[in-house]
Amino acid sequence: MGEFVRLEVADGIGTIRLDRPKMNALNLQVQTEIEECAREATLRDDVAAVIVYGGERVFAAGADIKEMQSMSYTDMAVAVEGLHSFTTTLARMPKPSVAAITGYALGGGCELAMCCDFRLAGESAQLGQPEILLGIIPGAGGTQRLTRLVGPAKAKDLIFSGRFIKADEALAIGLVDRVVPDDQVYAAAREWMSTFVGGPRFALKAAKEAIDRGGELDLDSGLALEKSLFSALFATHDRFVGMESFVVNGPGKAQFEGR
Ligand code: CAA
Repeated sequence: MGEFVRLEVADGIGTIRLDRPKMNALNLQVQTEIEECAREATLRDDVAAVIVYGGERVFAAGADIKEMQSMSYTDMAVAVEGLHSFTTTLARMPKPSVAAITGYALGGGCELAMCCDFRLAGESAQLGQPEILLGIIPGAGGTQRLTRLVGPAKAKDLIFSGRFIKADEALAIGLVDRVVPDDQVYAAAREWMSTFVGGPRFALKAAKEAIDRGGELDLDSGLALEKSLFSALFATHDRFVGMESFVVNGPGKAQFEGR
């Protein structure tokens, strides 16, 4: 349990809850605490899916500008490793994840959201990569993950201009996946993630790995990765459960055991 970030676990869902007033600015300590929570969520058997949530008012307004202000090149050459470490650890959690976005998700906050499998936003949420307005560029994966999500031209539009976009535009370009009324963001994220509780844990892990890692490879290498992940699932108990249940009871009724 960190000072600013905690992992709350209930009903099979782990919530990585950011709580650093006023804007959940991601200082070095917050980054470390998010990484610790992501590791814990990865290892805990009672966490089937993960929500990243900043509370009812704001998701996160980015890296802590006041902390970065006095950093030298060499300071940042060290600190950037932390930025990439926490975001990569989060992105590689072998479980479904969603960013539940209220208010601002800017700079490192938007980059944090892009480490999740999905983004669910409130109607008045605003997203953006405003680093250019500070004379820098996104440094926690934004140039890469935003481009992969929305394509190079839209990523350049957002990163070159630093403009904020509202939830409806983010939905239209594929930066967010669902938009709900502001007061339903967390509940809707829980409802979504609850669909994975009791799911075939190793198949979900394999699907995520095949899509995320495979997407970084040429087609032949991606297909080879899929082949080996697909075959490996035949060593799991859940695939017996899933197929036997289909044969006996019809589709979609399997009670998976996560092994
Ligand atoms: N770092 C540090 N402090 C921040 C912050 C940040 N990223 N964002 C907001 N704050 C602080 C403000 O300084 C202010 O503090 P005080 O009350 O002590 O003065 C407080 O939070 C509230 O902010 P505002 O008064 O500005 O509130 P607002 O409602 O008028 O505006 C905002 C909110 C649009 C989020 C605005 O604060 C803003 O533009 N913030 C900066 C966003 C930004 O540039 N993010 C990118 C950071 S760089 C980065 O993330 C690099 C990377 O890729 C890793």
